[in-house]
Amino acid sequence: MKGKIPHIVQYQGSKRILASQILQYMPDSFNRLLEPFSGMAAISIATAYNNRTDAYVINDINAPLIKMLQEAIEYPQKLIDSYSEVWSEQFIYEDNHVQHYYDVREKFNNGEETPANMLYLLARCVKGAVRYGKTGKFNQSPDKRRHGTSPKTLATNVYEVSRLLNGKVKFFCHDYHDILEMAKPGDLVYMDPPYQGVTNVSDNRYFAGVPFEEFSDVLRILNRNGVDYLISYDGECGGKEYGEELSESLYCKKVLLNAGRSSQATLLGKDKTTLEALYVSESLISKGIFHNYL
Ligand SMILES: C[S@@+](CC[C@H](N)C(=O)[O-])C[C@H]1O[C@@H](n2cnc3c(N)ncnc32)[C@H](O)[C@@H]1O
Repeated sequence: MKGKIPHIVQYQGSKRILASQILQYMPDSFNRLLEPFSGMAAISIATAYNNRTDAYVINDINAPLIKMLQEAIEYPQKLIDSYSEVWSEQFIYEDNHVQHYYDVREKFNNGEETPANMLYLLARCVKGAVRYGKTGKFNQSPDKRRHGTSPKTLATNVYEVSRLLNGKVKFFCHDYHDILEMAKPGDLVYMDPPYQGVTNVSDNRYFAGVPFEEFSDVLRILNRNGVDYLISYDGECGGKEYGEELSESLYCKKVLLNAGRSSQATLLGKDKTTLEALYVSESLISKGIFHNYL
């Protein structure tokens, strides 16, 4: 993959770093890419960058996130202008700029779920990690060392993402089941459900969670319908495995991708590589296009 693939803002669990490895398991071309757990849509962006298809379905249960992505792609200047305005306000607070984050968070939680507010919270919060409390309020803390992506850096990236995807995407903020119902043979579905350690969180507006059994059942339906799919699921770091394996009865092939050094291990002075599992559907394997990798 040549050049630099653009991205909008940090997002916990983003597959930006792994995108080029994941794309190795995609066919050269397909009808549509469906991303039911899009997050920051790193895989749709990388797919468009590599010209594999001209049609995308981008979905995430987090509605303000999807509205922000849609504005970035369809009205990039509008998002850049409104983000610049929110971002610049923090300098009025001088040394107390962290308070500005709390004020924006308060507005967001009181109904001002604007694309610019969502983007600013993501740009400034700890590890780009979206956290909603039990009452549905965004409760992630600010990273006190950061001012958040500068409007200039944002503009370069947003324009590039928009150039790649504008006019090609249908956006949804539904539960993933609704998106999988749209999948047809000839499409490719890329699934990146939330890390299994944080699934099954009930009573939470934007983390419906993805129970393991329920997820396996929908994969059986995709198998029956002959739909190609790839899934990022579970992980491994320094020989320790996280999360449950998908059942062999789903006939997927599991490959391990190298996600680099674990930041947690680095903090603890350990040198451990994180491996991330990618499951390749049987229908994709049967196409016989991955001789080099499988
Ligand atoms: C690991 S992140 C995806 C990251 C993404 N691949 C990227 O590169 O940015 C998982 C996403 O699934 C979403 N999600 C959680 N439960 C969901 C559900 N039931 N249906 C749809 N999306 C869901 C979360 O909001 C989160 O953005």
